[in-house]
Amino acid sequence: MRNTGDIRVLPQHIAIIMDGNGRWASKRLLPHNAGHRAGAQNLRKLSEEIEKLGIKYLTVYALSTENWKRPQKEVQGLIKLMHEYFQQYIDDSKKNDMKLTFIGDVSRFEPDLQQKIETLKTLTRGKNGLHVTLAINYGARDELTRAVRRIAEEVKNGLLNPDDINEETLAKRLDGYPTPDPDLLIKAGGEMRLSNFMLWQLAYTEMYFTDILWPDFGIKDLNAALEWFGSRARRYGGR
Ligand code: FPP
Repeated sequence: MRNTGDIRVLPQHIAIIMDGNGRWASKRLLPHNAGHRAGAQNLRKLSEEIEKLGIKYLTVYALSTENWKRPQKEVQGLIKLMHEYFQQYIDDSKKNDMKLTFIGDVSRFEPDLQQKIETLKTLTRGKNGLHVTLAINYGARDELTRAVRRIAEEVKNGLLNPDDINEETLAKRLDGYPTPDPDLLIKAGGEMRLSNFMLWQLAYTEMYFTDILWPDFGIKDLNAALEWFGSRARRYGGR
């Protein structure tokens, strides 16, 4: 176990919005995709650190439902990066303890990427290390809309009584179920917004915003976020 200063309470689940890749690249006169590549490398390094700390869940925002509006070249670059990243995890899956799952509507991706996603899920299903969830073609409004559509279909088919619908009914139909809600959200890149990320699941999450651009967000920055989290008194609306 690494020395993490005064941290007494660790989050069970960290969610990260990996923002600032573009600005990281622009500052170096590099194309946007060089920033995403550096961001993906950073994700790999930090997820290993998070696993070493004994934290159980990590969810990261890798591609939003809105990101398709970006220039074609950038979107293609991100998809190529996913291919490479997933392949690396498939190749490493024997020696790796991480479990990989996905949230978002993956049906929009080309069949060979969907195949890689299925392979990764199958190969890592029984793993006991860090459970990494990659949000790809993910948008919280889209996720909630799909969940509501499922509920409506179940009601229509007589499988569900509207009187029995409660918070759990909806929570169970969200993409990441049964992963617990995040305890800590880290957003890199200096902006204070949620960008349509896990709007339901973040209801009681502690939020840590930092100006550091995602590719520069290192282990000491992670420790600073964890120390801040350890100092929070979580009341969940109570006193
Ligand atoms: C936001 O930065 C980041 C994204 C849209 C994509 C995040 C993706 C990665 C870190 C790598 C891909 C991950 C995998 C799993 C392969 P931005 O471009 O909006 O930054 P900016 O605000 O500085 O322009």
